[in-house]
Amino acid sequence: MMDFIYNFWENQAEKYGASHEASWGDVYAIDLEINNIASHISEGKSVLDVGCANGFALIKHAQNFKLAESNGIDFSPKMVEMANMALAKAENNSPIHFSVGDIRCLDFPDAKFDIVYTTRVLINLPNWQEQIKGIDECIRVTKPGGKIIFSEAFWEPLVKLNALRIIFGLPSLVEHDFNRYLKKSNLNAYLNSIKTEFEVNDFSSLYYLGSRLIRDLIPESKTFVGYDNPVNKIFHNIEKDFSGGDVGIQQAYIIKKPLS
Ligand SMILES: C[S@@+](CC[C@H](N)C(=O)[O-])C[C@H]1O[C@@H](n2cnc3c(N)ncnc32)[C@H](O)[C@@H]1O
Repeated sequence: MMDFIYNFWENQAEKYGASHEASWGDVYAIDLEINNIASHISEGKSVLDVGCANGFALIKHAQNFKLAESNGIDFSPKMVEMANMALAKAENNSPIHFSVGDIRCLDFPDAKFDIVYTTRVLINLPNWQEQIKGIDECIRVTKPGGKIIFSEAFWEPLVKLNALRIIFGLPSLVEHDFNRYLKKSNLNAYLNSIKTEFEVNDFSSLYYLGSRLIRDLIPESKTFVGYDNPVNKIFHNIEKDFSGGDVGIQQAYIIKKPLS
């Protein structure tokens, strides 16, 4: 299973190089993700992007904020190679270092970073026990009082979205065969059990409503098969002004590491 996932990401890096498509074709969703993460970053902080792929997001954050330090790790050496190539061409405000590593065993000391984030990385781990290892590692390397952001895909909003699709006779959406969307119920219970404060940013629900339901109900929009469908664009704009609804598969858990 892990070899299959590893090979998939190595191939994505080879095929798409520095493009966002190496991680996902949905440019509007990626923009919403990056903006959401950015809303938790500020100047002077040290940041770790866990599962950084080709560095597409981290390089943007390091350009937009003068960070004390920024690190990106990914288990695909090819992704890290692409990240370093993109870094060589980029003008940055902050020092960046990319390296190969596994979220389940991070090669950093305890309490090193102010902000640690993942975007669609835990969902690559084969089961909840492995996902907990990744969650614990991200918390371990965060400073007390620092923030951990898990911007991931979740099971419950997928079920809600599919319930709406069924009303209109549309086929259900499914996970990639190797993804294991996180269950909000599991994550809530786990974070409560380790006495961690958290909030959830539902930053993509209206975008999902437009791009994964309404667009399929408009006959004219069916001629646009890709993510650049005009309906996606419209709902990407709407999402900037309104949010909520809990049908956005991508959501972000913002966790505050306790001071002691
Ligand atoms: C969906 S992509 C997301 C990439 C990036 N976070 C982004 O937002 O563009 C998932 C990334 O996680 C990496 N990955 C998968 N399993 C991993 C693991 N166990 N440890 C570290 N990285 C992993 C993959 O190589 C891939 O680059």
